[in-house]
Amino acid sequence: MQHTYGIQDFPVPALGLGAGRIGDPALDDAQVGTLLGQALDMGVTLIDTAPSYGLSEERIGRHLAHRRADYILSTKVGYGIPGHEDWSYGSVAAGIDAALRRLRTDYLDIVHLHSCPLETLQRGNVIRALHEARAQGKLRVAAYSGENAALQWAITSGHFGGIECSVNLFDQRCLEHDLPMAQARGIGVIAKRPLANFPWRFAKRPIGDYCEEYWLRWQAMGIKANDVDWPELALRFAAHAPAVSCAIVGTTSTEHLLQDKLHVDYGPLPPERFESLRRAFRNHDDNWIGLI
Ligand SMILES: NC(=O)c1ccc[n+]([C@@H]2O[C@H](COP(=O)([O-])OP(=O)(O)OC[C@H]3O[C@@H](n4cnc5c(N)ncnc54)[C@H](OP(=O)(O)O)[C@@H]3O)[C@@H](O)[C@H]2O)c1
Repeated sequence: MQHTYGIQDFPVPALGLGAGRIGDPALDDAQVGTLLGQALDMGVTLIDTAPSYGLSEERIGRHLAHRRADYILSTKVGYGIPGHEDWSYGSVAAGIDAALRRLRTDYLDIVHLHSCPLETLQRGNVIRALHEARAQGKLRVAAYSGENAALQWAITSGHFGGIECSVNLFDQRCLEHDLPMAQARGIGVIAKRPLANFPWRFAKRPIGDYCEEYWLRWQAMGIKANDVDWPELALRFAAHAPAVSCAIVGTTSTEHLLQDKLHVDYGPLPPERFESLRRAFRNHDDNWIGLI
């Protein structure tokens, strides 16, 4: 199933692969290569990575570069370049070149500034570096990844053709105003953490886990999956929420990715189910801001 990414003539799959987890050096490299190839074979053809995801970029380059025409590549920049201060003009310009090298390609489809704060965006130099690289043909879409006030600024600034933010059952504030605004401006939207990091794994509060806050929101909302399982409910909610172009699920398992793809292919939830989940969030929203 395909959606459109903001601007016309940019079709994207409704489900993409969030390649954070496959960067783990403890994973078997050949198995990661198999997962990446199978993702493309099953139509999961948008891959989202970042330099902070361990071996992720390097593995994508090594295992997939020979199929470069088969996938849309999204990555992030802004930090971690020796000799350049993080969030300087140079860190973005050199970061794009480093990503091109690691990913073994001569163009990137979408490049996000990776969660920099509002003040950094407003300084302008990192945005200038992104646009110059775009003019040089190194990337197609200049994008911002982040949440809340910085995300709102990015959407209205006119500088970005794409955004990435958290969209899931327990992170819905952006659905209220931000994503409709992005859609009206022709901005593509990647929904990250679409399974809310799978809090249903935990019977008790998972103190210290990445999904702890989502687990608490789940308990507070009191929602049940009822007739479907949690991944189906969550993915049909996030991937087909209005204005979402592509939901990127994080997994190290081909079996899970296949299930996730099937769930997304079932299409949107019935409107009354979608609305009841929106109401459950609104009714319990207790300063539930977007989580990076
Ligand atoms: N820009 C940013 O700042 C930022 C921040 C966070 C995330 N991201 C992006 O978003 C992507 C996705 O986010 P995420 O990985 O944090 O969270 P997520 O996609 O909401 O959840 C991932 C979790 O769900 C499990 N899972 C996936 N499919 C499943 C299935 N069918 N059944 C059971 N469990 C399943 C995975 O475990 P298994 O491995 O066992 O399947 C993993 O524990 C990241 O990889 C990254 O690309 C970006």
